[in-house]
Amino acid sequence: MAIPVLLPVLVAVLVVVATFLYQKLRFKLPPGPRPWPVVGNLYDIKPVRFRCFAEWAQTYGPIISVWFGSTLNVIVSSSELAKEVLKDKDQQLADRHRSRSAAKFSRDGKDLIWADYGPHYVKVRKVCTLELFSPKRLEALRPIREDEVTAMVESIFKDTTNPEMSGKSLLVKKYLGTVAFNNITRLAFGKRFVNDDGVVDEQGIEFKAIVSNGLKLGASLAMAEHIPWLRWMFPLDEDAFAKHGARRDRLTRAIMEEHTLARQKNGGEKQHFFDALLVLKDKYDLSEDTLIGLLWDMITAGMDTTAISVEWAMAKLIKNPRVQQKAQDEIDRVVGVERVMTENDFSNLPYLQSVAKEALRLHPPTPLMLPHRSNAHVKIGGYDIPKGSNVHVNVWAIARDPAVWKNPLEFRPERFLEEDVDMKGHDFRLLPFGAGRRVCPGAQLGINLVTSMLGHLLHHFVWTPPPGMKPEDIDMSENPGLVTYMRSPLQAVATPRLPSELYKRIAVDL
Ligand code: HEM
Repeated sequence: MAIPVLLPVLVAVLVVVATFLYQKLRFKLPPGPRPWPVVGNLYDIKPVRFRCFAEWAQTYGPIISVWFGSTLNVIVSSSELAKEVLKDKDQQLADRHRSRSAAKFSRDGKDLIWADYGPHYVKVRKVCTLELFSPKRLEALRPIREDEVTAMVESIFKDTTNPEMSGKSLLVKKYLGTVAFNNITRLAFGKRFVNDDGVVDEQGIEFKAIVSNGLKLGASLAMAEHIPWLRWMFPLDEDAFAKHGARRDRLTRAIMEEHTLARQKNGGEKQHFFDALLVLKDKYDLSEDTLIGLLWDMITAGMDTTAISVEWAMAKLIKNPRVQQKAQDEIDRVVGVERVMTENDFSNLPYLQSVAKEALRLHPPTPLMLPHRSNAHVKIGGYDIPKGSNVHVNVWAIARDPAVWKNPLEFRPERFLEEDVDMKGHDFRLLPFGAGRRVCPGAQLGINLVTSMLGHLLHHFVWTPPPGMKPEDIDMSENPGLVTYMRSPLQAVATPRLPSELYKRIAVDL
């Protein structure tokens, strides 16, 4: 009995070993830690991957091979090699690696994030660049951002001046997460699921449940993902994925119907993505799968990234009171203490912009970007990258590389006043949004939102560590994952510093 069961396993092991040896002998692959049969380096990778890869790069050099089971992953950690990947060989490396769950969620790449590079991708990307993220639309949606940021200030003010909270610290990410959630859902779906008292409505509860269920489903497969022949032991829960997809479609369609009715009743089209896509659907020949996929892409890619960036930045500002004070002095000088800041003030606040940039340098929320995949055989740094390999750029390591940054670990926004460094994909030392064909389409929106949140938090409050904690004791370690949360969510005391009439939400109905 044992032989028929073991035979397919044995054959599969032989196939994996043969594939590995074939690639190893035929190609000049980048160096890296020695892989084990079948599992490759999976058991050697430490949970916070970008740190582990950066350590390995110290030993093996700026381009390394890491085997996730039988899949070759190449990680580059220098700005020259990042340029090769994201500029010189960009087109051959612009496919995506889709895990089984990503394939399910995206209906096999019918969205943008998980689509391979090809006619579908080019079309959807064009919709994003020309239509959804055009400067005109970003400007038209600005009142939503300002509404949400001022709502955050009002909510922090209420909590921190509540006598029961006196002197106590706040969980910063609670407020940042609410801004990110409301901003992205309003921008994408044209709906605020949370009322003025902070109560989430039924659709909002469903919305949040779908997001968290998606994360749970995605995580449950992680290990079997990399060893194809093991997958039969970890079958996809087709039923759970189907239910998840149906639930997502049901909610999206319900919102779609509300919009169509509202448009028929009130006339006129709104600026948010949902209405825009309903109008653009025919012009660009977008299927319903693509439309729904795109809207949910915005939630996946745009929500946590912005909130996390601000949380890391605030931790840095509390650890560096000199920088906090200097940013506040600049805002006081430019905005004063009789009105609140707006995005129009940004151009006069170079130090604040540098604070945002410096925080994104040291703590990019996606330190390994999103994995790219080669659609052809290419050479990077003189090494072979066979077709079908995954390629990652360790933007975290590059942004801390002493070869290209002076005192890289120091949080010193002044460096960007001394030298203007682009962070939207033109300078390969600083790549929080990636670069090239797949550069983040939401980069400008992300920068605006992060800068605005930081500006308001600094203008309205002085931020200090929780009672009894010294700034240097704030835990700056990371949680594992594609998106890097702080391992210990930031707690801080917020002390108001402006006249109390400036803490009111500036609500808009868009
Ligand atoms: C601070 C905030 C943000 C950061 C640091 C960030 C970073 C990134 C990075 C590193 C990538 C992958 C690039 C690559 O694969 O080469 C990406 C992709 C993407 N981002 Fe962002 N992002 C942010 C905010 C946003 C926002 C606000 C949105 C939309 C509302 C958004 C939408 C997307 C989409 C749709 C993609 C996929 C692009 C593609 O595959 O072609 N991001 N982002």
